[in-house]
Amino acid sequence: MSDPTVVIVGSGAAALSLASSLPADRRVILLTKETMSDSNSAMAQGGIATSYLPEDSEASHIEDTLLAGAGHNDFDIVQMVIHEGKQMMQELIDARFPFDRSPEGTLLLGREGAHSLNRIFHAGGDASGWKLIEHLQQRIPGHIEVREYVRVVDLLVMDNHCCGVKLLDREGRIEYIHADQVVLATGGCGSLYSHHSNHLTVTGDGLMLAYRAGAALTDMEFMQFHPTLLVKNGRSYGLVSEAVRGEGGVLVDETGRRIMKGRHEYEDLAPRDIVARVMHEEMQQGRTIYINIEACSNFSSRFPSITRLCEQAGVDLRDQRIPVAPGMHFLMGGIQVNTWGESTVRGLFAIGEAACTGLHGANRLASNSLLEALVTGRRTAQRIAAMNDSMTEWKTGLSVSPVLIQVPQTTLAELQRRMTAAVSIERTGEQLRGMKEWLEGLPSQVFNVQKITRVQMELSNLWQLAVLVTSAALLREESRGAHYRSDFPERDDSVWGGRQIILSRQGSR
Ligand code: SIN
Repeated sequence: MSDPTVVIVGSGAAALSLASSLPADRRVILLTKETMSDSNSAMAQGGIATSYLPEDSEASHIEDTLLAGAGHNDFDIVQMVIHEGKQMMQELIDARFPFDRSPEGTLLLGREGAHSLNRIFHAGGDASGWKLIEHLQQRIPGHIEVREYVRVVDLLVMDNHCCGVKLLDREGRIEYIHADQVVLATGGCGSLYSHHSNHLTVTGDGLMLAYRAGAALTDMEFMQFHPTLLVKNGRSYGLVSEAVRGEGGVLVDETGRRIMKGRHEYEDLAPRDIVARVMHEEMQQGRTIYINIEACSNFSSRFPSITRLCEQAGVDLRDQRIPVAPGMHFLMGGIQVNTWGESTVRGLFAIGEAACTGLHGANRLASNSLLEALVTGRRTAQRIAAMNDSMTEWKTGLSVSPVLIQVPQTTLAELQRRMTAAVSIERTGEQLRGMKEWLEGLPSQVFNVQKITRVQMELSNLWQLAVLVTSAALLREESRGAHYRSDFPERDDSVWGGRQIILSRQGSR
């Protein structure tokens, strides 16, 4: 009998937290689309939120998370992630993780949007995600089999039970891996939009694998647009962390007028959905928006990655302002999971941004995502450790049929342009209906997965995902957090309070 096998798809913080916590008696195979260092986590700038200062508390962190989430969070999950996350942060401190400190050795905690006080731990200035990935990579046990440049194209499912993956190897050959548990840690779907902060590999693959396997997706209408991507001459270069505003940066128009003055009590550090909407409003009126960084001391040493982005974009920091525009950043929704990362398909788990735990509600609080990745990765490992399902008896009955992919006749740029126009910061029923009609009316062709390019495969996933996102946004006839319907501009707790839109192949509800 073969060893119990766990397949992990993805290589960001959630995947590595899981990989380093699984019991040693499991065969673990980690599959990633490019290299181990290509993920959204590795690009995270801001840091990890945890209450630490004497005047701070878990209760305050919980309250800020709930306020930012616009009444759509799962309270028990919020409490659990913030509590267990704090313990894991203490472990990182004890393991001498290189969080930034003052010359005297005091931990330097930053501030970001919607936090009532400083609680963002950062490392390498604005290279927090990369430092975390490096740290976690060093802790992956030697027996874990890592395979880079492989693409999972389908899940093996029998009777609502996931028992492995079909993949395309580096040479484009189809391969089957049978597994007792499959964990999707594939991130969200930034590539649905023209401007986004995500790694280019993040194309919603895991979400569509789960959906096709019969798993439920939820909260897909809640897309977080980060207010400040560095955008110059219509091209986006990457994120300008909210931490810049935490260090005194302010949003201004060409004349120097502060656009967040009078818009929220936290002004430039208001929740992200609110700042993004104000930016959108200003830009609709033809204005260009900048972050004025005059108040940020030692900008280049505090923000070395952003300084590099500015150099690439030809932005001269001596002008003390960086041109910015909102862009897609984070999916609050995802594969519906319970507190142990279990999806609605047995044996199939999801963690990190690919999952919807209910932590973030309708709008994620800044720097809660790496915290969630750490906690959900470890909890899923604990759950798997306690399981003794065996796939042995399933293996012979599995289908070895070819993987057929439906490719739409459009381009990624066109899909992104239309999603940005109709399903982004501001939505209306009319635009959403028009978008859905266009998506559903697109001619398409069916190909064997081995006969198409990676770009076509990704386009296929993004197209199908766009239908789901647009449908969910159309169904929710209210405004809440990141989902703003100008035809239903108010939050409507009487109809929508506590209600989640659940999408599955069996239909939506
Ligand atoms: C940022 O650095 O502004 C992003 C942090 C986050 O997404 O939580």
